[in-house]
Amino acid sequence: MREELLSPEADAAEVAEETTLRPRHLEEFVGQPRLREHLQIMLTAAKQRGQAVDHVLLAGPPGLGKTSLAGIIANEMGARITPTSGPALERAGDLAAILTNLDDGDVLFIDEVHRLPRVVEESLYPAMEDFRFDIVIGKGPSARTIRLDLPRFTLVGATTRTGLITGPLRDRFGFVARLDYYASDELAAILRRAASILGVELEPDGADEIAGRARGTPRIANRLLKRVRDYTEVRADGRVTADIARAALALFEVDELGLDKVDRAILDALCRTFVGRAVGLGTLAVAVSEAPETVEDVYEPFLLQCGLIERTPRGRIATPAGFAHIGLHAPRSPGEAPELF
Ligand SMILES: Nc1ncnc2c1ncn2[C@@H]1O[C@H](COP(=O)(O)OP(=O)(O)O)[C@@H](O)[C@H]1O
Ligand SMILES: [Mg+2]
Repeated sequence: MREELLSPEADAAEVAEETTLRPRHLEEFVGQPRLREHLQIMLTAAKQRGQAVDHVLLAGPPGLGKTSLAGIIANEMGARITPTSGPALERAGDLAAILTNLDDGDVLFIDEVHRLPRVVEESLYPAMEDFRFDIVIGKGPSARTIRLDLPRFTLVGATTRTGLITGPLRDRFGFVARLDYYASDELAAILRRAASILGVELEPDGADEIAGRARGTPRIANRLLKRVRDYTEVRADGRVTADIARAALALFEVDELGLDKVDRAILDALCRTFVGRAVGLGTLAVAVSEAPETVEDVYEPFLLQCGLIERTPRGRIATPAGFAHIGLHAPRSPGEAPELF
């Protein structure tokens, strides 16, 4: 239960449910003020010129609003959106089929754009740059290249890390937007919006209590709200106060920082197993039985954000706050046994 509750990724059932809570207009999109302002200017300018918006790359950890923003961009432009994902486009032909079905101004949303196969990615370059697609027909000496003219579409790509995007692909986006973890007051605002859509009576201090444990992530905040709602409907009067939220989240084993089992395992490995020594990503991943990419994309950013771990040139280390969070004093020198609080 605990891992699912705090996972930044949505499972299939949740994806369907999320559509009701997804903001559809830029003004409903809470937080990320700088990014929102940049997008607002880009969208307004494109509308005034009567042109499609420049290609946009959205980068950031899962659950922060990338898919929502792709929909908002299309919506604000009055355009259709065609969603697909990097792994779903196996051959260049798959991409050609989608591109030739677009109209002028349409948005093509490619989620996990860093997972596009190489050949597909390369065939995307001329499509993004010159709105053309070259198809090779036949083999050997009789092979011909046919050039297809494409509509003026807008590509919106999403990725969990910009570092995974190749230089040539990145360069072809007119705008690269980084989404950051949300502050508690922003998450509280997102929760109030979700509560009014879901018909939950959420007190302001109840919203703050949930916001503080949501790992800076709107998806997690909304999920915690639903569990707290269940709790208050069964054990209380249906209202979500701070006390109710605290009791419900304690029952579901969500700690005050919103750390889950894997976060704690990472802290444990850094503090107890490696005792403050710098640890490489691969070693750390093995120690907590997770894939290195998962540790790097999903867990590390939040632990870094909380100031519980640090990345050094030699590897990851726990900070004194990291030791303190699991009830230990940082050792005087790395490798020395840490003392209990
Ligand atoms: N800025 C925001 N304002 C309000 N709700 C948001 C915001 N960002 C995300 N959400 C909520 O979180 C959920 C997950 O967001 P999503 O766009 O699917 O994230 P991502 O694609 O980055 O994983 C959405 O369904 C929406 O309810
Ligand atoms: Mg998404």
